Amino acid sequence: MYEYLKKSIAVAGLIFLPALLLFNCGSVKVETLYENGGVASTSPIAAEIGLKILEDGGNAVDAAVAVGFALAVCYPEAGNIGGGGFALVYSEDDKTVEALDFREKAPSAAGRDMYLDDSGLVIPGSSLLGAKAAGVPGTVAGMFELWRRYGTRDWYELLQPAIVLADTGFIVSDYIARSMAEQKDSLAIFHETGMIFHPDGRKLLSGDRFIQKDLSETLERIALDTLDGFYSGRTAELIAASMTKNGGLISLEDLQSYNPAWRTPIHFTFDSLDIYSMPPPSSGGVILGEILKILEPFDLALYGVGSAEYIHLTAEACRLAYADRAVHLCDPEFTENPITELLDSAYLESRCRLIDPHLAGNSSKIGSGLPEKAAESESTTHYCIADRFGNVVSLTYTLNTSFGSKLVVEGAGFLLNNEMDDFSIKPGVANVYGLVGGRSNEIAPGKRMLSSMTPTIVLYRGKPCLALGSPGGSKIITTVAQALIDFDRFGMNLQDIVTQPRFHHQWLPDTLFLETGGFDINIKQDLISRGHMIYERSRYGDLQIISINNDRLITGASDPRHEGVFRGY
Ligand code: DON
Repeated sequence: MYEYLKKSIAVAGLIFLPALLLFNCGSVKVETLYENGGVASTSPIAAEIGLKILEDGGNAVDAAVAVGFALAVCYPEAGNIGGGGFALVYSEDDKTVEALDFREKAPSAAGRDMYLDDSGLVIPGSSLLGAKAAGVPGTVAGMFELWRRYGTRDWYELLQPAIVLADTGFIVSDYIARSMAEQKDSLAIFHETGMIFHPDGRKLLSGDRFIQKDLSETLERIALDTLDGFYSGRTAELIAASMTKNGGLISLEDLQSYNPAWRTPIHFTFDSLDIYSMPPPSSGGVILGEILKILEPFDLALYGVGSAEYIHLTAEACRLAYADRAVHLCDPEFTENPITELLDSAYLESRCRLIDPHLAGNSSKIGSGLPEKAAESESTTHYCIADRFGNVVSLTYTLNTSFGSKLVVEGAGFLLNNEMDDFSIKPGVANVYGLVGGRSNEIAPGKRMLSSMTPTIVLYRGKPCLALGSPGGSKIITTVAQALIDFDRFGMNLQDIVTQPRFHHQWLPDTLFLETGGFDINIKQDLISRGHMIYERSRYGDLQIISINNDRLITGASDPRHEGVFRGY
């Protein structure tokens, strides 16, 4: 299927450029191919800003920096300078994929039991709301490090669109108005947050202009002073003051000592694809690798996308992989992660043998297949960019839940993350995504909390052919896994891939989640008869995807669940 797709693109591309007909999976789709570059983002405003940087001669990393800062203004539920994330970069000059970790860190005053009361019970909401829920932000350091290593344009120039956007405002879209309305009450908890999001004492509506003067000044400081514009000086002092006022732990020293880290990406093959994804402290790459390698021997194309057999087998592979996630993965600077063991072919074969093709497993009887080594662990956004030089960026960053901790740093105009909830705040207690963790992911000063973010770049015969990623908390990994199977095994085009109904299993809870309306009654009954506990839930994820064909022509698609776009030129 994949070979066919590549060939169709190459042959038809010659004849029909720029519009290309792809006859695929019974549907006829027109996908426009672009010669020079493209950006897929959940925000049309940010995508335009990234595209302009590419058109003006910037490379994919320049555009990624500009998009990252723009999203911090125009996509406030997840775009951020007060959070953190991960980026994968394919460099055409070096012919390598590198992974940058700019995940938040626990403040130095943080401790294992900081969210427990005197009797050892979790204080409800304490790891999710307000200053104490925030980890030391990594986004600004991450953007700067990406630019320092690969950027070609002036740093100030890359921040300028975001500064203007914050200063003069942008028109609130239906989607942004809805997302703010959903959080209306929580955005009013902190006075400083209400001042930004309810500027005249009322919630912002679609069509209103949203101006963020304090944020514009903070961005200006970062544009002028780079790291010092955030991690020291006025911005840092405002963060520290917000901590003192609201009972948070981030100190000036924590800010000054924050560092992003280049890490070796997780690499594995799936059929003829070379897949590169994020290593710990994200679980994304390892768990994606486990899921796909466990599934590799099965002839999934025979069953078909959306079939009960395919969903069953994939859910079982996910059950097995997420059981490992809970025990083994965490910040590698604190505990060694058994990555080689988890992706070892003999181990994966042994996991595969646990799958009954007809019956669901039982998560209470299935644990990790590896012994525990040590005392051990919506809203995010993804964008991908390809440029005319052959470089590709796949980047996911987040505040954790929608609008993060809900606390805006007074005078600095940006939201702080609530990423501390991604730690295992008490062994066996589920976090907001229902994930349980063990001691490997417990809180320690300076430690990074385990993530599920899965920015991914795929090479085919040594050349980048796909970049993708999504938000969705624990569901990120299964969203990316299904997209890769749709592409490789079902030969689907990008628009169908982002639209395809999703399903999810994460070991615990022992539940097969299905997107409401995505699966017909016969499929559901078949899955129930195999022993799956089914739970239908609202649509989730916001997949952004770009493909590059053999002739280096670029196309992309953005998830219809949100208002995103792919823009190429
Ligand atoms: O790092 C993680 O895994 C989470 N903080 C991601 C949160 C997320 O995707 C929320 N979006 N729906």
